[in-house]
Amino acid sequence: MPTPTDRVREAGRSSIRVMYDLAERHDGDLIRLEVGEPDFDTPDHVVDAAAEAARGGATHYTSNAGMPACRRAIADTLADRYGVTHDPDEIVVTVGGMEALHLAVLATVGPGEELLAPGPVWPNYETQARLAEGTFREVPMPAETGFALDADRVIDEMSDETAAIVLTTPSNPTGRVYDQAACRAVVEAAADHDAYVIADEVYLGLTYDGPGQGIAAYTDHPEHVLTVGSCSKTYAMTGWRLGWLAGDRHLTDEVVTIHESTTACASSVAQHAAIAALTGPQKPFEEMYDAFEARRDLVVDRVASIDGLSCPRPEGAFYAYLDPGLDEPALDVATYLLEEHGVVLAPGDGFGATTPGHLRLSFASSPAELREGFDRIEAGLEAY
Ligand SMILES: Cc1ncc(COP(=O)(O)O)c(C=O)c1O
Repeated sequence: MPTPTDRVREAGRSSIRVMYDLAERHDGDLIRLEVGEPDFDTPDHVVDAAAEAARGGATHYTSNAGMPACRRAIADTLADRYGVTHDPDEIVVTVGGMEALHLAVLATVGPGEELLAPGPVWPNYETQARLAEGTFREVPMPAETGFALDADRVIDEMSDETAAIVLTTPSNPTGRVYDQAACRAVVEAAADHDAYVIADEVYLGLTYDGPGQGIAAYTDHPEHVLTVGSCSKTYAMTGWRLGWLAGDRHLTDEVVTIHESTTACASSVAQHAAIAALTGPQKPFEEMYDAFEARRDLVVDRVASIDGLSCPRPEGAFYAYLDPGLDEPALDVATYLLEEHGVVLAPGDGFGATTPGHLRLSFASSPAELREGFDRIEAGLEAY
């Protein structure tokens, strides 16, 4: 009988973890560009609202699915900002987008069934599929098109065992925003297979070439889409652990049943913080967005200026997926850059089997750190 740790042991976080551990043990000055977390603190009006709520007695359990006011704020945000319409009853407030994804996988993927995702891919989906006693398969997207979603490749891999497909847009690790027609085709095929698309849209507030639209907004089969969102990235609230799952009522009801036995409910204080973030002044978040966009431009310029280095143009999120143009395992290159040049990047083999030589750079760090980081990458690659 496999133990629970056996179930997750093989999932592919290892080389990202190796880099993290190396960086933690290193005592020199490091520029850390491997971490996917905004460098901004949560704006004051959000912190104040949460503190006030806690002082006012919001220190108790909430209903399993979340406070009605929080579900309403999420429903309004999904509709107004991303075109995704759901009744508040079809929304479950979760402990981060991470719990929403875990619940979505548990609700859709049964033992022995399969979860598919286009690669390169964020590693946690595989672990979640394993925890559901299902299987996970990465469908590699072509590097020549900058890992754009090729719907035919995904559809060709669907079978009777396929229970769900995760589409992450904007993507971690590539920063690509998937083409709407391609997403629509994948949802259509999922519906034909009686499967679901889990739309991981935790970065949808950070798209730089036009406003983000949720997949459920433009598909003909929204009942086959489970939308996952989060306050973490767009609102600089990673530590509050506040996310959501939105979908057809028959699925969200099932999800609430599982959620009741996993975390019972999201933190009451964090739900008050989310209401303030979603319904209060947006200026601080717009300023963060502008800062990320400027950093994206800085990254694109610096990558273009370094011989042999390339990446798909990041259209969203805060990641650039660098191809250093070396025929070497990314872990070796990343270890060298850390030890010899003091810059930390996440190796591509942590994001599935598609891109063993790539390196993910997070531009959620300050422009000064990014400039210094690129100087070190440039010097490192020149000397390699
Ligand atoms: C693609 C993707 N989905 C979901 C999450 C989960 O974020 P959170 O649980 O903080 O909402 C992350 C976090 O890094 C992510 O990169």
